[in-house]
Amino acid sequence: MKSAIQEITPYIYGTTRLGHADVPYPQREKIAQSAIDAGVWFHTSRQYDDALEVLGNTFKNNAGSIPKLIVKIGWDNVSQLRKVLEENLKPLGVNSIQLGQLCLGGQLAEDFANGGDCYKEFQALKDEGLVQGFVVEAFPWSSWASLKALQAGYTHDIIDGFIFYLNPLQRFASNALWDEIHARQQPIIGMRTISGGPVHKLRDVPGFAWNKYLQARAVQIAPIFEKSGIQSWTEFCVQFAHSFPLLQATVGSTSREENLNEYIAATKAVQPLPEDIISEIQAIQYQWSNEFDMQAAPGTI
Ligand SMILES: NC(=O)c1ccc[n+]([C@@H]2O[C@H](COP(=O)([O-])OP(=O)(O)OC[C@H]3O[C@@H](n4cnc5c(N)ncnc54)[C@H](OP(=O)(O)O)[C@@H]3O)[C@@H](O)[C@H]2O)c1
Repeated sequence: MKSAIQEITPYIYGTTRLGHADVPYPQREKIAQSAIDAGVWFHTSRQYDDALEVLGNTFKNNAGSIPKLIVKIGWDNVSQLRKVLEENLKPLGVNSIQLGQLCLGGQLAEDFANGGDCYKEFQALKDEGLVQGFVVEAFPWSSWASLKALQAGYTHDIIDGFIFYLNPLQRFASNALWDEIHARQQPIIGMRTISGGPVHKLRDVPGFAWNKYLQARAVQIAPIFEKSGIQSWTEFCVQFAHSFPLLQATVGSTSREENLNEYIAATKAVQPLPEDIISEIQAIQYQWSNEFDMQAAPGTI
């Protein structure tokens, strides 16, 4: 059967900004409408404050053109999966989603790694038409579960791909998982397209980077970006993500029309970055992963 992921758009509208109080409510509905009009997929979660309600309201005026959705579901045990999915479907006003993003913690991660009952529940959600497919979220601290499941062959036929932060400052699949994904040619969805903001701001504006390691990484990456001759950070980041042939799409957020247009323009006929730039950033990311990401406590980076 054809996987939902094959229909994905190369840019996915991330919806965190739709839940942020600093964005006036009418502006949130307006930007959601613009993203719908652009025909791109959406990525959302109950965790993004009232983003689901903004989406639900906007979808009411768009019967027939509701965007394709990736929704986060999880977290700690199998029985939670369906409940979390329902908590999303209701406010969104939809009966099904294209991709469930499996967020693995606690017993659920163990079950997933060991080929347990969660796979029956994934199939049931598919058979009932609630979810068309699944991608597995990977963080440095949760990559082990995906790696084990992938190596054991449990993901075959039920998991459509893997989703994690992939931008010039972050590659949050562990090195081992990243290598395994490539060895097995698994589809990837990258998140946080521009790593939260322009690299020079992340480097130079005190407090702009929410965590000091990102400021330090911006110091390392800014000269590589400058060397590329590309003027726009968004364009550089979109090209970075799409330089990896397994990458299907990159998820970036915005509350502004001009920034949405920039994401969309950058994903039209996207070119990969030159090989030397990709190799340079990849080498740095392997090192960051071993020396820092894998040592970090869950949720701290
Ligand atoms: N575990 C997870 O599943 C997970 C975790 C994190 C993120 N995500 C997904 O990924 C999406 C994106 O992540 P993110 O929002 O953390 O990072 P991001 O998309 O890299 O950055 C978004 C930020 O950049 C700003 N921005 C966008 N375009 C810009 C431009 N051209 N110039 C200057 N600023 C610009 C936005 O502000 P403006 O509103 O002012 O444009 C916003 O503050 C989220 O919405 C979510 O869907 C998922």
